Amino acid sequence: MTESQGSNPSRRTLIGWGGAGLALGAAAAGGAVAMAEAGDDVDPVAAETGGAVEFHGANQAGIATPVQDRLHFAAFDVKTEDREEFVQMLKDWTAAARRMTAGEAVGEGAYGGLAEAPPDDTGEALGLKPSRLTLTIGFGPSLFDRFGLADKRPEALVDLPKFPGDNLDRSRTGGDLCVQACADDPQVAVHAIRNLARIGFGKVAIRWSQLGFGKTSSTTPDAQTPRNLMGFKDGTRNIAGTETDRLKKFVWVGDGDGDAKSSWMTGGSYLVARRIRMNIETWDRTSLQEQEDVFGRDKREGAPVGKAKEHDEPFLKAMKPDAHVRLAHPDSNGGVTILRRGYSFTDGTDGLGRLDAGLFFLAYQRDVRKGFIPLQRRLSAQDALNEYIQHVGSAVFAVPPGVRDAHDWWGRTLFSKEA
Ligand code: HEM
Repeated sequence: MTESQGSNPSRRTLIGWGGAGLALGAAAAGGAVAMAEAGDDVDPVAAETGGAVEFHGANQAGIATPVQDRLHFAAFDVKTEDREEFVQMLKDWTAAARRMTAGEAVGEGAYGGLAEAPPDDTGEALGLKPSRLTLTIGFGPSLFDRFGLADKRPEALVDLPKFPGDNLDRSRTGGDLCVQACADDPQVAVHAIRNLARIGFGKVAIRWSQLGFGKTSSTTPDAQTPRNLMGFKDGTRNIAGTETDRLKKFVWVGDGDGDAKSSWMTGGSYLVARRIRMNIETWDRTSLQEQEDVFGRDKREGAPVGKAKEHDEPFLKAMKPDAHVRLAHPDSNGGVTILRRGYSFTDGTDGLGRLDAGLFFLAYQRDVRKGFIPLQRRLSAQDALNEYIQHVGSAVFAVPPGVRDAHDWWGRTLFSKEA
């Protein structure tokens, strides 16, 4: 018996309710919204109903998708040398991801199977809603040293240079591949990573992982902008999931991008992950004026210096020369634009009476050499924020295009001979 056949309300039943809610919402809105169109598009109703985000599409979900509240991010190292075994794992992962994002248990479910064997699903998400779970896979530079992939490593997938002030912890840096799990319910996100790690046992092992809460960047223009742990609105100026043209220009890898080595990346994107620790205690003893000067925006409204409203156009010259927003703004960087999707974290204390807290920065872009690297070069050298933060973990991944349909699988364009 699978979990959906059980007597308790299952995740499948709940997705049915979510679907019903969507259908009603669509009817109320003149039928303009269809569940099947969710994917990367804005899906406001799903947020309220705990509904599902479509797994299939030209691009992977979890990039332009409206940001969910919680994150579980995991970087993995490959343990097998057998290419076929690794490819089979990617196919198994895809099948599990397809089910979990739809609110269903993995395989045959968490109970009802053979009493002698461990169940296919670990069970802690039974009865929970799909919670807009998205699962996004990425391949790190070191993966291309394996499985004869050297001639498929895109030139855009560079190893990040060392930036001034970096204090990287090797145990929180790098990874052959990653999975970003985002959901409105933390248990749903953790369940997803745990089950993928379980399926991958013997083939991959978790190198490091990060839990995140309180999204620090919005990709939904109308939503209230969330605040980071420094108390400032974060994500005011970002690429919205609805801005198809800007996504095409700055986020999705285009058909003619790069050389033959990167043709498998069309429709994909590049992800930079940075664990940025905040010196919270120092920040909390800093005057309000200094805090506002550091960002170039006011704390209450989030308005740029000299302006009244959060979304007013910033006048950069009114800000201090080392203000974060002035330095990060596209006008100061020849138009450089990235999509930010970060989360706050607190991982206990550091043994010195200080919180181990900060921002788990996630940024997607079409080419890291034209996105994160030039931006961070400037910020690491000049940003007033540097006094209060330290980059302690780092990784970069090539995020392949979306899984097109029920027969497709994560990484097919990279691994399949026919692709
Ligand atoms: C703990 C570290 C960081 C904190 C607390 C932080 C916080 C903020 C805040 C409060 C804003 C203004 C609101 C907004 O437009 O979102 C902002 C803007 C921005 N930040 Fe950061 N940030 C951090 C690190 C970074 C890093 C590492 C980068 C890129 C390398 C970056 C890139 C940007 C960009 C591109 C903008 C928008 C600038 C604009 O167009 O006006 N930030 N950040």
